[in-house]
Amino acid sequence: MLHRAVCPGTFDPPTNGHLDVIGRAAAMFDELVVATGVNESKRRLFGDDERVELLRETVAGFGNVTVGTFDGLLVDYCRAEGIGVIVKGVRTAGDYDYELQMALMNRRLTGVETIFLPAAPEHAHLSSSLVKEVARFGGDVSSFVPASVHRRLTEALAR
Ligand code: PNS
Repeated sequence: MLHRAVCPGTFDPPTNGHLDVIGRAAAMFDELVVATGVNESKRRLFGDDERVELLRETVAGFGNVTVGTFDGLLVDYCRAEGIGVIVKGVRTAGDYDYELQMALMNRRLTGVETIFLPAAPEHAHLSSSLVKEVARFGGDVSSFVPASVHRRLTEALAR
């Protein structure tokens, strides 16, 4: 019944935590679309095209994962793409509070369901924002993001 799902996010940039959730979700559905959208409250380092490229490199190893992009409501994207399930990773109670409210709103809008996957404990400290902050001040983030992301992050911060 649940053939096609979306794993949405800002992915600025994708981290190993995202990659873990994507891999676990990909094992649950015939097809998973990883879609980068816009969270109005977040300032982005990478442009839309760059985030799509980063994601393509990050998910290249999965046969049933594609990359998409949306700039309006996630529920409209889901409807247009024939997607009935949203998958989100949650790290903390704070994440859950925020994600639950969005899940309820999305279901109220169009009936689309959301499934939460608990972050693996070894990735629970990761967020794109913290990775950028640590990298910006010279910290080593090489074990927090895929190698291709690390390369691009280093370049982007040097611009
Ligand atoms: O990286 P994030 O912050 O987890 O991504 C959040 C995102 C982009 C998935 C969320 O903000 C979103 O769906 N934005 C699109 C606009 C929308 O549908 N807003 C209403 C949410 S109930």
